[in-house]
Amino acid sequence: MSLEKFKLAVLVSGRGSNLQAIIDSIEQDAPDIQLSIVISNVKDAPALKRAEKHGIETVFIDPAASPDRKAFDKAVIDKLKERSVDLICLAGYMRILGREFIQTFANRIINIHPSLLPAFPGLDAQKQAIDYGVKFSGCTVHFVDEGIDSGPIIMQTAVPVFDHDDEESLTQRILEQEHILYPKAIKLIAGKK
Ligand code: GRF
Repeated sequence: MSLEKFKLAVLVSGRGSNLQAIIDSIEQDAPDIQLSIVISNVKDAPALKRAEKHGIETVFIDPAASPDRKAFDKAVIDKLKERSVDLICLAGYMRILGREFIQTFANRIINIHPSLLPAFPGLDAQKQAIDYGVKFSGCTVHFVDEGIDSGPIIMQTAVPVFDHDDEESLTQRILEQEHILYPKAIKLIAGKK
């Protein structure tokens, strides 16, 4: 058995509640997983504070410092390569990854999306679900490919959508499940290294 830990990177842009769930879950019962680095494209993302509180290295990479998306992606790629990460988790990371990024880390990038994909990809998935009138929605952890929320599905959890729901109540119900599902999927992949 290898003594090397399974190295994780989490990419964030905002609140970081999924990041928090990942941190808590690793601290609780996954000593073989190391959250090596949290990278943000937003300087004041609350997610960065959450990571710092747990002694996790954080890096802000300023998109304004790069002439284009390719150059910005390259800066992130270099950081991830430096840390030799095994898996990259997007957790509310509000940027589309370019081809080079996806190809550099083929099958090693995962994302969580607040719908039962392939239904309602893209922005405002919960609002799309309410507007469509579906009776169930949920969340999906999937591999990231070059499309929008289109890569192979790893795990899903369904939640009911009630007649009295609005975007906010559905978002909350789905988010609770995201916080359970994302750490579970990460542990599943880490166990298969
Ligand atoms: C979550 O709803 C996730 O599904 C979506 O972005 C949101 C991020 O929330 N991709 P948080 O920053 O993890 O709290």
